[in-house]
Amino acid sequence: GAAELGPYRHYMQKEIFEQPRAVGDTLQDIQSITPELFGDGAYDVFKTIDRVLILACGTSYYAGMTARYWIESVAKIPVNVEIASEYRYRDSVPDPRTLVVTISQSGETADTLAALKHAQSQGMEHTLTICNVGTSAMVRECKLSYLTRAGVEIGVASTKAFTTQLTGLFLLTLALAQVKGRINETQEHDYLKALRHLPVAITAVLALEPQIMAWADRFASKENALFLGRGMHYPIAMEGALKLKEISYIHAEAYPAGELKHGPLALVTDQMPVVTIAPRDELLEKLKSNMQEVRARGGELYVFADADTRITASPGMHVIRMPENYGKLSPILHTIPLQLLAYHAACARGTDVDKPRNLAKSVTVE
Ligand code: G6P
Repeated sequence: GAAELGPYRHYMQKEIFEQPRAVGDTLQDIQSITPELFGDGAYDVFKTIDRVLILACGTSYYAGMTARYWIESVAKIPVNVEIASEYRYRDSVPDPRTLVVTISQSGETADTLAALKHAQSQGMEHTLTICNVGTSAMVRECKLSYLTRAGVEIGVASTKAFTTQLTGLFLLTLALAQVKGRINETQEHDYLKALRHLPVAITAVLALEPQIMAWADRFASKENALFLGRGMHYPIAMEGALKLKEISYIHAEAYPAGELKHGPLALVTDQMPVVTIAPRDELLEKLKSNMQEVRARGGELYVFADADTRITASPGMHVIRMPENYGKLSPILHTIPLQLLAYHAACARGTDVDKPRNLAKSVTVE
């Protein structure tokens, strides 16, 4: 009821603003990385496996897509990420030395549970879940688990569950890297420090809400939007597009910016807002030329740029500056403004934000 919502208009908005707390709780008071954070026997499992298969649906799938970049670059273990409803019906080649990771807010999604069982039936016994509900079927079925502490999520569009999943997946990355001898104590210490700073960093991004609301008003009259990202921010672009379509009913799709020229550039006109995630990373210069391709066709760019990118506003190029560059954890921070953009665009269009049409919070039937 209204009392629970406090100063917020919807559960989704409340849950977006709960993220500093949710991410902080998910980190508990972890003083050092150990495989046992994922349960008894995790060390032996992590020692044995030489590849990772991530299975999930919806927003949880995009958390998995992001984790792939982390695990491959930090722990140096090859990763596959599959949509659960595809994997369960596909003739894949099983490898018993695989760590099967399911990601699920509810722990009850029928396709994800069936995908897990399919993997098990193929002889893949090393299973781990990143899940928000400790009593769920997913946690019971998996040998290892890490519980996110998002708390109950009511808005159908997932927000705090996603950022806490990413937090858990980064911890998993570090634990795998440790067991495989791919990081030293100093690196571990630095990553832990960055993780612990997340609640403060997220709070600073949430303060951008008024600027994002002004953008959202302009999106409200549009029927299409494109989201661009590169590297580990490509899955974040996909999550941003999913949020926008779920709750505002604006058609949105995400593209890795380098792929623009192979199709979506044909759609770009002044009626097409193009949201761009612009972190300061090795791909920045390439991203800037992708942005020029959009500008040259009259597309309107809405750029979330890290403080030190030297991307400045000009006609047709709107810029909101992110407070700090966050290195490997940057995808977590860049998620926040996209959630706010979708939320305020939906409010401006007057949709039922917490209960979008045709969608369910948890899909427990196929
Ligand atoms: C539904 C929800 C999404 C969620 C997906 C997977 O589609 O509306 O927000 O991401 O299910 O749910 P899970 O509980 O497995 O994370």
